[in-house]
Amino acid sequence: MEIRAIMVIGAGQMGSGIAQVAAQSGFSTLLHDISMEAVQKGLLAIRKSLAKFVEKGKLSPEEMEAALARLTPCDDLAAAAECDLAIEAVVENMGVKAKIFRELDRLAPPNAILASNTSSLPITEIAAVTGRPEQVIGMHFMNPVPLMKLVEIIRGLATSDETYEAIEALSRRLGKTTAECRDVPGFISNRVLMVMLNEAIWCLYEGVASAESIDTIMKLGMNHPMGPLTLADLIGLDTVLAILQVLQDGYGDPKYRPCPLLRQYVKAGWLGRKSGRGFYRYA
Ligand code: NAI
Repeated sequence: MEIRAIMVIGAGQMGSGIAQVAAQSGFSTLLHDISMEAVQKGLLAIRKSLAKFVEKGKLSPEEMEAALARLTPCDDLAAAAECDLAIEAVVENMGVKAKIFRELDRLAPPNAILASNTSSLPITEIAAVTGRPEQVIGMHFMNPVPLMKLVEIIRGLATSDETYEAIEALSRRLGKTTAECRDVPGFISNRVLMVMLNEAIWCLYEGVASAESIDTIMKLGMNHPMGPLTLADLIGLDTVLAILQVLQDGYGDPKYRPCPLLRQYVKAGWLGRKSGRGFYRYA
């Protein structure tokens, strides 16, 4: 089946990035969020990101305008009737995602594929709320989407080979490299990564070192592009906490127990870069 039109649900940092890459790759792209205000915020982020590419000479002003022209904002899920593929990128919460997939199943054309950008939630469970579990799949992009090469593809128990192949081919058209992973809590990326991020937060909580020292040690010592606390701030501390809870519930292993400091920051509304404050402050 040929994918021509893509709908992205959730215009936050991941949804806007996915919509940007889809539009840049020539797809007609619908960007949806709960309000037009939220969609406009996402579109502004896309405009800023595209302008940076133009500044660096990686994109022409004409290509930027063409990409923007392929984007259609919407706040009504009924627009799913127009898409061949819906990619959901709303908050990391099963209740919210399940509600959206139920609606998408009702509204999207019968042959449309429904994908989730979830970081950790079971694709099989998301698929089970629909009448088309063979057409539901995990399409896990990395942050920031326009720069990061990987899409981790997760097959639910019922995902068909046809759906998998369509999503693998589409990811390549978006300029991404794919890797397949079974449907387990946190998949590979976050099962491995979150243990490190949580441990770094425990070190800060115990006063072992300052945030700056922890990040410098891990960045320069391990040759990572950024330290774990900087990365946690980039991901969003609410998302980090939600993923750790999924890992803890899914495996029942205390090694995933979220550090109390992380819980406290989320309660304070210190969500990292997106809220202006996390382990660091952002202007
Ligand atoms: P975010 O907080 O930046 O954006 C979430 C967006 O979803 C918001 O704009 C919100 O208004 C919208 N939303 C909430 N409920 C909605 C609904 N019922 N209908 C439509 N829109 C709704 O979060 P972010 O970081 O973009 O994460 C989104 C998803 O992507 C989560 O599942 C997360 O686990 C996953 N993800 C996050 C990564 C990261 O580094 N932040 C990396 C890879 C995946």
